[in-house]
Amino acid sequence: MSNCCFKNVYIETLGCQMNKSDTERIYGILSHFGYCPCENENEADFCIVNTCSIRKLSEDKAYSKLGVWGKIKKERALKIAICGCVAQQEGKNLLKRFPYVDLVFGTQNIYELPELIKCNDRICAVREKPVAEGNYNIIRSKTLNAWLPIIEGCNNFCSYCVVPYTRGRERSREPERIIAEAKSIIKEGFKEITLLGQNVDSYGKDLPKKPTLASLLKEIDLLEGNFRIRFTTSYPTDITDELIQTVKNSKKICECFHIPMQSGSDRVLKAMNRRYDRKTYAAIVKKIRDNIENVTITSDFIAGFPSETREEFEMTLSAFDEFELDYSNTAAYSPRPNTPAAKWTDKYIDENEKKNRLAILNEKVKEMSLKSNQKYVAKTLEVLVESSKNGKFEGRTRNNKVVHITGENINIGDFVNVHIDRASTWCLFGSKK
Ligand code: SAH
Ligand code: SF4
Ligand code: F3S
Repeated sequence: MSNCCFKNVYIETLGCQMNKSDTERIYGILSHFGYCPCENENEADFCIVNTCSIRKLSEDKAYSKLGVWGKIKKERALKIAICGCVAQQEGKNLLKRFPYVDLVFGTQNIYELPELIKCNDRICAVREKPVAEGNYNIIRSKTLNAWLPIIEGCNNFCSYCVVPYTRGRERSREPERIIAEAKSIIKEGFKEITLLGQNVDSYGKDLPKKPTLASLLKEIDLLEGNFRIRFTTSYPTDITDELIQTVKNSKKICECFHIPMQSGSDRVLKAMNRRYDRKTYAAIVKKIRDNIENVTITSDFIAGFPSETREEFEMTLSAFDEFELDYSNTAAYSPRPNTPAAKWTDKYIDENEKKNRLAILNEKVKEMSLKSNQKYVAKTLEVLVESSKNGKFEGRTRNNKVVHITGENINIGDFVNVHIDRASTWCLFGSKK
């Protein structure tokens, strides 16, 4: 088929790595039906917004994108779709609210797209039960780093979080399917595989043979080739000794654990319906640090959860120091549909105070990040060279630090040993040895 038969599809992706991975699969599915990915909405025949609902701000971003496309559609033919977590949550309300939207599909049915795109009517297809995976291309957005989803959904129901409602219950992919995908990723020349899941540590609990994240990692570690393996996100109490030992003893698994803590206060953790306290989190971090040298431990924290006192917020700040966290994502609490915490309106924290706490939290993250980066000055670290700008190369260490590299004979895709000369808040600077 010549290129002129093709139509252009543009996907705007909001949200987490799982959404980015879904987008790669959607591009792949559509490629079987004559759609080519394009980089600009102005060149597109079909625009899709793959949405996130984790905070109100993310939801609003999706709506403003639809507004932009609605205006384009007044000037020329354009098919508009909305998918992802907001689509799963809002369903057919979206067709009513946005008359120019042609298609709404959820997180559970991207593999139904071949039928959905044939339809000429405006349609909402949001399924409660997942539609089985098909065998389609995957058009990956990066050339060195590949996402590999291993488990989707969440059974935890933290009181603030929309994910169990937008992604459904935990569902693990069959290990054979994951290994086959890992093999093809390596064959295509990728240098890094990131195993993805809302809770990767729950992997396999729903499968008949009960494989574990550790067993899966071991199997991928044994595959031939020069590549790195990462995994995210971990729920604190689901990290097993077997997992820690697997990371310690493997060749390719990077020394990074992303373990969101959410709050440093036991009372707030309970109100959040998290299944651990500060002492338990401390024990997990200690076990990881005692076993794995140069490990990076990162977290997520929420500022201004309903009823959080100033004192409790300060416990979050002190958690950074106590656990020597290397970095954290941060967010001001945002009430989300269907979640219990959204009903606690009488306990909401004043918006200004919430913003103020978030700003303090962000300062703490900066301080910790600089401290963490400074540990590596004068050390030699292995860096995967990932990009270059104006003749300057950039890459990441095994423990996920960004490094600006100087030196001769550096190529994108190389693993190079770099002497770290200095550190700043967000990155390291070094020279190739
Ligand atoms: N499964 C992961 C987190 C996935 S959501 C875990 O359990 O840790 C990513 C992050 O978004 C969460 O860690 C949390 O910090 C943040 N988040 C989720 N819901 C939020 C809300 N209602 N308001 C603000 N931040 C929220
Ligand atoms: Fe959301 Fe909690 Fe599930 Fe993480 S564990 S996705 S924060 S409900
Ligand atoms: Fe957002 Fe859905 Fe991911 S709510 S964070 S895109 S799972």
